[in-house]
Amino acid sequence: MPGDGIGKEVIPAAVQVLQTVLPDLETVEAPAGWETFEQTGQSVPDSTLDQIRACGAGLFGAVQSPLYKVDGYRSAILTMRQELGLYANIRPVKSIAGVTPSAEKALDMIVVRENSEGLYISRETSDGETAVAERVITRSASRRIAEKTVELARSQGRQKITIVHKANVLPLTDGLFRDSVRDVIAESGLDIEVDELLIDVAALKMVGEPERFDVAVTTNLFGDILSDAAAHWGGGLGLAPSLNWGDGVAVAEPVHGSAPDIAGQGLANPIAAILSGAMLVRYVWQLPDIADKIEQAAAEVMQAGLPASQITAGVTSAILQKLS
Ligand code: NAD
Ligand code: IPM
Ligand code: MN
Repeated sequence: MPGDGIGKEVIPAAVQVLQTVLPDLETVEAPAGWETFEQTGQSVPDSTLDQIRACGAGLFGAVQSPLYKVDGYRSAILTMRQELGLYANIRPVKSIAGVTPSAEKALDMIVVRENSEGLYISRETSDGETAVAERVITRSASRRIAEKTVELARSQGRQKITIVHKANVLPLTDGLFRDSVRDVIAESGLDIEVDELLIDVAALKMVGEPERFDVAVTTNLFGDILSDAAAHWGGGLGLAPSLNWGDGVAVAEPVHGSAPDIAGQGLANPIAAILSGAMLVRYVWQLPDIADKIEQAAAEVMQAGLPASQITAGVTSAILQKLS
């Protein structure tokens, strides 16, 4: 699903990479996004949802969203997360020597973002004078994201899980999240360091001391914000991948949006989309060696420097050359 703007440029690049490393991969293209909404009245047509379910894996580019309220419109990615039960959002950040901003040591961290509730239930009311947004935290969704976090930490041999919340101000909601995550980690028997940070301090530490993070798990909006901050250390939005993950179905997408300022000019870095494809390879198809190869090729191409023009095409062909 290329979606809107630079999605149309970076998704074909990522598909080419996947087809090179997995020659038997079958792909189908499906519509989603703002343009699709304008044409069909749905940002994600039912036929697209059915196709993602049938495939078990989707790769989505980006959606352009209006900044005003449009009746009947809901962002394509939010629709997919909700309709497909993609309750976990996995956002890894790795440094690349000589390319990404230098921290004290090499960085390799993951922000695990609860992807189904919090403020993203999008229940707002307003009488014109007072506007209210509901924020829902449930024990079941908090436990579910904690289970995913434990599974990830265990399979990757991680050293520490940091629970990020705001239980000092929101003891009922964020307290429930924190306690549920702590319970699941304790019940799992996983031998790992567990600590917690309030979101404001977590933001400060993400700026000043990113190496203190290994796996950070948090609620939906905090995860949205903290993962963009973390993405800085991975080289910014042009390099930041993510995986929206549920049970038996996943949609990978670059963290960036449709980038209207550069769309249509061949200037978009395709690596965020390519690394998102690599997340399908690693997490959904469980072929870590192939995912490592893609990541390695992307890192080397970044180390060689971006071409001055035709960045999308130049970066894609350099990566393909390393992989074939
Ligand atoms: P954006 O991520 O589209 O762009 C932010 C800045 O980063 C821009 O200057 C852009 O040129 C640059 N950038 C982004 N991706 C890049 C890439 N691959 N290579 C080089 N530069 C890149 O965010 P925005 O401008 O705030 O939002 C534009 C639209 O995208 C909005 O309609 C917004 O709602 C939507 N959006 C969608 C998603 C998504 O689909 N997941 C995420 C964020 C924003
Ligand atoms: C992201 C994006 C989305 C979000 C927007 C486009 C709805 O910012 O995937 O991080 O807020 O989750
Ligand atoms: Mn975001």
